[in-house]
Amino acid sequence: MIVPGSSAQSLAARLAAETGRQLATPTFDRFPDGETCAAVPDFAGDTAVIVAATTSNDALVQLIQLQDAVREAGATDVTTVLSYMGYARQDRAFTEGQPVSARAVARAVSTGTDRVVLVDPHEPTVAEFYDAATTTVSAGRRLAEPLGELTEPVFLAPDEGAVSLAERVRDAYGRGTTDYFRKERDYDTGDVQVDPGDTSVTGRDVVVVDDIVATGSTMSEAVAALRDRDPGRIVTCCVHPMLVGNARTKLAAAGVDRVIGTDTVECASSTVSVAPVIADVL
Ligand code: R5P
Repeated sequence: MIVPGSSAQSLAARLAAETGRQLATPTFDRFPDGETCAAVPDFAGDTAVIVAATTSNDALVQLIQLQDAVREAGATDVTTVLSYMGYARQDRAFTEGQPVSARAVARAVSTGTDRVVLVDPHEPTVAEFYDAATTTVSAGRRLAEPLGELTEPVFLAPDEGAVSLAERVRDAYGRGTTDYFRKERDYDTGDVQVDPGDTSVTGRDVVVVDDIVATGSTMSEAVAALRDRDPGRIVTCCVHPMLVGNARTKLAAAGVDRVIGTDTVECASSTVSVAPVIADVL
């Protein structure tokens, strides 16, 4: 059975349809002291595929509870699909005394599962933190599908870390070049500065590709820098449309009317499904 986490219900339903597996209906309750209780009253069978986006601490705890609940209900084979792995950006101790949170989360998730599937984690190396067998898949090919006809496209990553994703989108699209901006973030203020360098975009359609749009600072600064260079159309896309806080306003102020995002995270921008990509490895 496919077992949805609270933050990945649409994706889980699509994955059930894609694979022909049954869809469980978990319940997500809360005790008076605030503690969560995720349960699987209708789970049946010996194989569970839990689909979760750990976009919050609650979602992470619910995932661990679902892993335990399906074992209680008789599952002998558990796969955990992390459509969005929270804490993946804390992949090292940035200052003395900090945890490597991605590793701590990976270890906790590994205890309740036989295998893990990650969708475009922020750093591919976080897969090594899992004690369970881990497969990483990419939504790149899915992001290429809605792009339509583009003129001399350039697939641009707003920072070097997203270049391989931009290349995957370009490869799936079938033509175009890739490039990236140099980015600096002030971690005290959250402000982002991007340096377009000698990226040539004049008269060309630009597809800005990032793994995550969180506060929207990176994407809006990248688009603002592009506008000075007289590009053709600017299309923005990402795998994980977190869009926290005033991200939508920042993006709108930069002239972005739409971010093409996937359903690894559920929001209004989740217009592309990664279900086929996950189904391929189940
Ligand atoms: C950073 O390295 C990531 O690839 C994204 O660019 C970043 O997480 C986006 O964050 P924000 O939307 O807050 O600028």
